[in-house]
Amino acid sequence: MPEHKISFSYLSQEDLLKAGCFDIKMAMQVAEKTMLAYEQHRILFPEKIVQIFDQSSQDRINCLPATLLDEKICGVKWVSVFPRNPGLHDAQNLSAILVLSEIEKGFPVAVMEGTLASNMRVAAMGGVAAKHLSRDDSEVIGFIGAGEQAKMHLIAMKVVRPSLKECRVAAKTIDEEQQFIDELSPLFPDMDFVRANTHGRAAMLDADILVTATSVQAPLLKADWMKPGAFYSHIGGWEDEYEVAQQCDKIVCDDWDTVTHRTQTLSRMYKEGLISGADIHADLHELISNHKPGRESENERIYFNAVGLAYIDVAIGLAMYRRAIENGSGQSLDLQQSMIFEHADIMQQIKL
Ligand SMILES: NC(=O)c1ccc[n+]([C@@H]2O[C@H](COP(=O)([O-])OP(=O)(O)OC[C@H]3O[C@@H](n4cnc5c(N)ncnc54)[C@H](O)[C@@H]3O)[C@@H](O)[C@H]2O)c1
Repeated sequence: MPEHKISFSYLSQEDLLKAGCFDIKMAMQVAEKTMLAYEQHRILFPEKIVQIFDQSSQDRINCLPATLLDEKICGVKWVSVFPRNPGLHDAQNLSAILVLSEIEKGFPVAVMEGTLASNMRVAAMGGVAAKHLSRDDSEVIGFIGAGEQAKMHLIAMKVVRPSLKECRVAAKTIDEEQQFIDELSPLFPDMDFVRANTHGRAAMLDADILVTATSVQAPLLKADWMKPGAFYSHIGGWEDEYEVAQQCDKIVCDDWDTVTHRTQTLSRMYKEGLISGADIHADLHELISNHKPGRESENERIYFNAVGLAYIDVAIGLAMYRRAIENGSGQSLDLQQSMIFEHADIMQQIKL
């Protein structure tokens, strides 16, 4: 009788951390390789499914599938975004789970915590963009927003630009700025951390790399604060005045077409007729494949906007799963021992 058992690996966040998966260099390498695969049409990437439960707060759960044809893996990220969580429940706003299936028999291979992969993906994309678009002598990085994405972004930026020696941070509250500094300063003893006491200008003025990662919808970043030669990574929704993008010499997106359908600053400008595809220098994969140049002069101001590409999450999740399995992390769970009618006592289990 054929064996019809189906098993998959279950990996918690702690299993992934123990296995050494919080590895931003790995995430950046995977992101680059997967963007090239996308350019070569080796990725299936259908539309995401969005269910919004509250229009004003945008509480939502999204279902984002993608297939990595070369890896023979189909995955889905099931991600909840509840922006009020930090204020209402002292809890994170984003939580995700990833399911990976092989595409020979179509059986699941992993069910895993997905917030780590998702947040690392955002930072990895920012890091890859910074590698191509920031000055390689960047010394000062400024943040508006001190939450999960901001923390992860600093790690990626410092890996890409080890020359960074000052980090300034502005958030909604001084306590959050201090928490950011308390958590990250031990990791980077060669950097000076500056609390901006909620003043965006103090964090951003004349920084070499600017990052906005906030949960607010308001033009917090002012064009005047961005000096020639600066690189700006925009992570949240509407966070900067339109003049920021208008004064930049290059605008690069993870995927411009996707940006036009969202609610980021660039999306708003597009919908208001203030910007079009002709103003976009490139999608990030075009820089990796050398089809378009990255930074070309010391004085260019460059704007990067990533809205999130789920096939990168699936690819980072796959790399984490493989590393975890190599390290003996996680647990194997049985989905079934045999097919339904093969169970010896199946006739007794049927309720009529
Ligand atoms: N681009 C992507 O791929 C992607 C992926 C995930 C999340 N995001 C977005 O990134 C943003 C940040 O997410 P997070 O998980 O870090 O959120 P978070 O709740 O952990 O942090 C939000 C930060 O915004 C700050 N903030 C709020 N109002 C502010 C104000 N008026 N002035 C200054 N700072 C203010 C808060 O102080 C906090 O530090 C969200 O908008 C989220 O939707 C983007």
